[in-house]
Amino acid sequence: MARKSTLLPEVAVVESIRQETPNIKTFRVVSPGGGKPFEHIPGQCAMLSTPPVGEAIFSITSSPTEKEHLDFSIVQTGTVTNYLHEIEEGFEIGIRGPLGNGFPVEEVKGKDLLFIGGGIGLAPLRSFINYCFDNREDYGKIDILYGARTPDDMIQKKDLFELWPQQPNTDVYLTVDKECEGWDGKVALAPHYCEELAFTPENKVTVTCGPPIMIKFVLEALDRMGFTPDQVITTLELRMKCGVGKCGRCNIGEKYVCIDGPVFTYAQLLEMPPEY
Ligand SMILES: Cc1cc2nc3c(=O)[nH]c(=O)nc-3n(C[C@H](O)[C@H](O)[C@H](O)COP(=O)(O)OP(=O)(O)OC[C@H]3O[C@@H](n4cnc5c(N)ncnc54)[C@H](O)[C@@H]3O)c2cc1C
Ligand code: FES
Repeated sequence: MARKSTLLPEVAVVESIRQETPNIKTFRVVSPGGGKPFEHIPGQCAMLSTPPVGEAIFSITSSPTEKEHLDFSIVQTGTVTNYLHEIEEGFEIGIRGPLGNGFPVEEVKGKDLLFIGGGIGLAPLRSFINYCFDNREDYGKIDILYGARTPDDMIQKKDLFELWPQQPNTDVYLTVDKECEGWDGKVALAPHYCEELAFTPENKVTVTCGPPIMIKFVLEALDRMGFTPDQVITTLELRMKCGVGKCGRCNIGEKYVCIDGPVFTYAQLLEMPPEY
């Protein structure tokens, strides 16, 4: 069957909407006749469009192993996201994708995986994490370190507090930035907690996504802990327009983040101009 154009939006239906935090909602999207609009690999994205106001790119947070829908966790930040946060279940939107390269799920088989996420940065990681759990025998030990400003700002709480800690050969470490009433867990910034936990680099790949400042300090911490740049994978969130390498909005040197990325190893980033 011919591949559908990733430039042409198709109609999709918002099947359900869940409020995750005060400013983040998770939208479950299906085709009008039911089922997924398209297949994807973890780390890939889609453009969601709301014709009166425009379109914007979001990571697909559901795993490809979820066969009936695509999920997106979306922060309310501006024109498109304000509109999305106002719509109700059953609303029709436009969708085009899958966009971007995605995580190297095949290449890291057999490795231990350390996921480090901050805030909404858990969205792309979650697709990979749940993919690993649905193919558990392909991957080694899984460590998940997730930080948010406050407990209320944590997304996907059922995964974080219930489902993931029950998985075999898996540890979940949660932290918040500052002391909060009702939180008796860890209080530390994610990069500091990562160093404190003293993860060792042997046979391990780390995958990190979060605010740029968190990624910067995580990369420095992993370097001090002995991880080499090719053991560290991250995703970039540059401004994007077309998402298919046509408009030149997202290039860094010769690379187009929308098609060569958004997933890069730190080794690849070190070879690129420092514009990200
Ligand atoms: C590869 C990729 C994956 C993404 N995944 C997610 C996701 O899973 N969930 C999610 O909530 N968001 C994600 N984003 C960010 C999302 O695309 C933007 O928040 C969205 O485009 C904002 O659209 P808007 O019309 O609501 O905001 P606008 O009205 O366009 O902008 C509002 C404000 O946000 C700033 N802004 C907008 N986009 C970006 C950006 N990419 N980087 C920095 N500042 C920006 C603008 O400068 C402005 O100050 C992702 C971005 C990329 C590039
Ligand atoms: S967003 Fe248009 S070239 Fe990347």
